[in-house]
Amino acid sequence: MKVLVIGSGGREHALVWKLKQSKLDPELFWAPGNGGYKGFAQCVNISAENVEDILDFCMGKKIDFVVVGPEAPLALGIVDKLNKKNIKVFGPTKAASQLEISKVFTKLFCQKNGIPSAKFWIFDDSKKVTDFLQSRELPYPLVLKADGLAAGKGVIIAEDANHAVEAANKIMVQKKFGNAGNKIVIEEFLAGNEASIMALCDGEKSLILPTARDYKRALDEDKGENTGGMGAVSPSPVVSENDKKNNLLNEIKFKIIDKTLQAMADAGNPFKGVLYAGLMLTDEGPKLLEFNVRFGDPETQVVLPRLKEDLLTILIESSEGKITKNELSLSQNKCVTVVAASKGYPSSYSKGFEIKGIKMAEENGCIVFHAGTKREGEKILTNGGRVLNVTAFGETYNEAREKVYKGLEKIDFEGITYRKDIARI
Ligand code: AMP
Ligand code: GLY
Repeated sequence: MKVLVIGSGGREHALVWKLKQSKLDPELFWAPGNGGYKGFAQCVNISAENVEDILDFCMGKKIDFVVVGPEAPLALGIVDKLNKKNIKVFGPTKAASQLEISKVFTKLFCQKNGIPSAKFWIFDDSKKVTDFLQSRELPYPLVLKADGLAAGKGVIIAEDANHAVEAANKIMVQKKFGNAGNKIVIEEFLAGNEASIMALCDGEKSLILPTARDYKRALDEDKGENTGGMGAVSPSPVVSENDKKNNLLNEIKFKIIDKTLQAMADAGNPFKGVLYAGLMLTDEGPKLLEFNVRFGDPETQVVLPRLKEDLLTILIESSEGKITKNELSLSQNKCVTVVAASKGYPSSYSKGFEIKGIKMAEENGCIVFHAGTKREGEKILTNGGRVLNVTAFGETYNEAREKVYKGLEKIDFEGITYRKDIARI
């Protein structure tokens, strides 16, 4: 069967890597792909947001199944459009994607359906926000979030009223995140450990994927700006996958994931695809920070290597609304990934530098998922902010992390930067 994966990051490289192992022996296409395609998939030079050209390609090539990686094409309604052409696809419809596309939608959805999340205020007018922030005693720090999609960067934590006014201005007046900042959500700050819980959903039923934690800040010890993610570990150090009597994971499944599926189905927008819950584990229990409606990046790079299942079969079942399993089979190993980034990321950075040493890292026991890379002849060049995801297994976090950092020592490109504290648990 012919399968098309959409996207160009490390998440998509991990997807094609895992799909390639399927017993269905798919012929894989990847739009637009990255420098990691060799031996896995045929790249198709169409960007993930170019929905019309993707549709044409699928029709022309008679693609049997499409797997959508990033949120942008989901927000453009790619799933609805493929469905209309009778092309099978894994991912939520545009209406179901509201859970990620709009933080305002999600806050109101949580409130209505009793899904635990932070207290909040919503504004669509910059003057009203400033008045609100200047006229009240508020419990700082506060969290300010652009309503729309902002590549994981639209969240600002403000320590005091001045900082909050400045942040609201950045989002709503200076439009640092474009139209995503037309509305703003202000949230109470939640303290606790974070966890990323993803579930494969078929509209009614969910299968919890291996748990994970990502490291969102640019610098060691969770300092610096928020990024798309600088590393990840699986399982989450704070959400046990094994202890069936420890009901934290069950609580998350029932109170957050399944409740959401039920409410979306009741509203006529059944959710099929990956539902990703970014959670804060507070003293009052798990609370939702955000939903994503697709695989997390870089969480996928540590989750899929631990999954002892035929991913393609399950994705097809999810898309058809008939997941057959009740539980996924997982490796008991730990998995760690560290993002090797371009100097300057998440702000401005240069591209086009040659990357050396990938093979040596692989020979040292790492899986190297490409993210912002491209091939030029035999050379592999940097082509983005997050360049490589160097990944390894171990019986302990420490064993996996040591393998990753040894692998990273073998890799070099101009301006390579990475956090040194990933998986120091
Ligand atoms: P989000 O994109 O909503 O997941 O937010 C990005 C990051 O900001 C999260 O991973 C948290 O580290 C932090 N964050 C978001 N909302 C809150 C909150 N209400 N309290 C504390 N930290 C938060
Ligand atoms: N790692 C967070 C995300 O994928 O949005």
